[in-house]
Amino acid sequence: MTIHVFDDAATLAREIAARLAARVNEIVAEGRTPRIVLTGGSIAIKAYRQIEADAADWAAAEYWWGDERFVPEGHEDRNDRQAREAFLDRVGVPAHRLHPMPAHGCDVSMAEAADEYARELPDQPFDVVLLGVGPDAHIASLFPGHPQVGEQDRVVVEVYDSPKPPPQRISLTFPALNHTRATWFIVSGADKAEAVAKAHRGVPVEEAPATGARGMDETVWLLDADAARDLPTT
Ligand code: 6PG
Repeated sequence: MTIHVFDDAATLAREIAARLAARVNEIVAEGRTPRIVLTGGSIAIKAYRQIEADAADWAAAEYWWGDERFVPEGHEDRNDRQAREAFLDRVGVPAHRLHPMPAHGCDVSMAEAADEYARELPDQPFDVVLLGVGPDAHIASLFPGHPQVGEQDRVVVEVYDSPKPPPQRISLTFPALNHTRATWFIVSGADKAEAVAKAHRGVPVEEAPATGARGMDETVWLLDADAARDLPTT
């Protein structure tokens, strides 16, 4: 596990954007299709906004989401809408490279929508899973004390009672989130310091879901100084 700490949120956002561009370029240079899992959240959107159109062949990659708010398509709360406005549409990623999660109003139940999305996940590992972290150390829509944290059979599940509004969400579970070459936590703000410290203390995953996420080859924490405040200084 690697930790990188940057002075402030703006610097962190630029760093996330630059690192994602570099990784996409590396993978394209290997002749592969980059498979990226995007997260919602404020630092993620800040980072997406820093992405430069000419920094990588963004349209060569495919994009999934780690979680989504189960609200109508196009709703301002949708993670996919926010990512498209901040980055994907702006740099010209065509719709067929995107795998948005089902939205409220689709013709199936949330549970069926979750199972539908499970069928849209790649057989191969993801290359990068981006994860924001909540003040309670949640990641995606896996919240402390919620049963979805322990889900090992289904790779995508429905959440009806998210403590973070809106309450209805669809989320990848750990078997899917950890089927990745690299996991990048992106965390900004003093309100996340305790969650970051918990994850590094190895607090049980049921109490701090961030503890349970890791890449097969790489697990990186990209933090600003405020979020890193409570980490042990070595
Ligand atoms: C969501 C996100 C969620 C987010 C964290 C951090 O749909 O809300 O996927 O997991 O990444 O809550 O969000 P902030 O960076 O805005 O605190």
